[in-house]
Amino acid sequence: MKVMVVGDGGREHALIWKLFRSDRVDKIYAAPGNDGMTNIAELVPIEADDIEALARFAEKNDIGMTVVGPEEPLVAGIVDYFIERGLPIFGPKKQAALLEGSKIFAKSILNKYDIPTAEYEIFTDPDTALNYLESAEYPLVIKAEGLAQGKGVIVASNYGDSQDAVARIMEDKAFGDAGDRIVVEDFLEGEEVAVLALTDGETILPLTTARDHKAVFEGDEGPNTGGMGAYSPSPYIDAKMMDRICREILRPTLKALKSEGIDYRGVLYVGIILTENGPAVIDYNARFGDPESQVMLPRMKEDLLDLIEYTNNVQLRAFDEIGFYDFSAVCVILASAGYPLTFTTDYEIKGLEKLKSHDDLIIFHSGTKIKDGKYYTNNGRVLGLTVVGNSLFNIINKVYEYLEEVEFEDMHYRTDIGFSISQIADTNLE
Ligand code: GLY
Repeated sequence: MKVMVVGDGGREHALIWKLFRSDRVDKIYAAPGNDGMTNIAELVPIEADDIEALARFAEKNDIGMTVVGPEEPLVAGIVDYFIERGLPIFGPKKQAALLEGSKIFAKSILNKYDIPTAEYEIFTDPDTALNYLESAEYPLVIKAEGLAQGKGVIVASNYGDSQDAVARIMEDKAFGDAGDRIVVEDFLEGEEVAVLALTDGETILPLTTARDHKAVFEGDEGPNTGGMGAYSPSPYIDAKMMDRICREILRPTLKALKSEGIDYRGVLYVGIILTENGPAVIDYNARFGDPESQVMLPRMKEDLLDLIEYTNNVQLRAFDEIGFYDFSAVCVILASAGYPLTFTTDYEIKGLEKLKSHDDLIIFHSGTKIKDGKYYTNNGRVLGLTVVGNSLFNIINKVYEYLEEVEFEDMHYRTDIGFSISQIADTNLE
C-alpha cells in the first residue's frame, strides 16, 4: 500500500519510521516532510494546510492511507474532506477534533460529564479577565482558547504574570484569533503524564504513557515550546492507576462524545495531572504528541497500519490491549537557540554520520534540509535523539553522551530531560 503522512516535524518522522516497518507498506510520501526523511519517504511539496491539494495528490497517486500528524488540518476538517471523496485517512473529523481545537469545548465536555478536571472561568475581554485575576489565588493557569502549537498555556505565579499573559494572548494576539477568549484554570498540583489512547468511537484502548518537557529551559523555566524532550513510559502509572484512568477518564470521555453525537475515531491524547484526589484532565489533543511520538512509537509492538485500519473500520474490540515493549525510551530535542520566539536557521549540522553508528539511538528530524549533500538547520526544533533501553537512568546518560557528537551553531537543548524520575523508574523496574 502507498501511504502519505501529512506534516513536517519529528512526530511525522517517527510515524514514517514506524510505518516503514510494516510489511504492508510499499511506499511512503511525506507532505511536505523534511529532508531528514528522504531515505524512507518521498517528499511531496504540499503544505499540511492545503487540504484540497493533498486530496488531489492522494486521489491521483492511489494513496491507500493518509495519516495526519498535526492538529491544524484535523481541526480544519481534512478528515471530513477526504472521507467525502472516498479517500482513506486516519484521524478524527472536524467536530471531534474540536476537543483539541477549543479549550472551552473541552472544558464543557469535562464539566457536563463529571470527568475530573480543574475549576475554570472563561473571559472574552481583557479588562474583565484582569479584574478577576487581580484578586485570584495563585498559581493559576491561563490558556488561549484555540490552537497555539502548545505555546498558549501560561502558568501565572502572581498578578504580574497574569497581566503579561493577558497582554500577550488577548491584546498582542501572539496566537492570533486563538486568543480571542481565554480559559483561566486552577493550577493542579501533582505529576503530569500524557496517556494516549486509540478509539474507534465504540471501544477505547490505552496505547502507552509518556511525559514531555514543554518549557524551553532546565527546571521548567522560560516559555512553553512544542516540547524539548520526552520519555516513555511514565513510572507514575502502574496497572492499577491505568485501570483507574480508563474507568474515570478514558471511557467516560468516549461515552460523553457519543452522547454528544460525536463519532471520534483516531488517537486521543489526554494530558493528566495525578493530584492527591486522583487523576484529573488538563487537556485533550486529537493526535499523537511531538516529541511524545518519538518515544512511544519505537516502543509499539503492533503494526501501525493494522491499528489504523482496525480503528477506521470500528474493529478495536478485537484487541484485549495494544502491545508495547517493556523497555523505556528517552528523547532530547536539539533546537535553535531563541526557539520558541525568534531564532536563526541555515547552520550546517555536523556529526550526524557518526551518530548513526549507535544501535540504540534513533535520529528523528524535526527541521532539517540538505544542501550540497550536507544537513542544515531549518526550524526551531531541529533534531530529536531517541535512545531506547531497559534502564531509564542509563539511556538518559547515553542520550547526553551521544548528543556531544553532533553540533551546529546556536544549538540549544535542555540538560535535564527525565532526570527527576530516572531513579524512581529504575527502582520500579527492579
Ligand atoms: N508535546 C505536546 C504536544 O504534542 O501537544
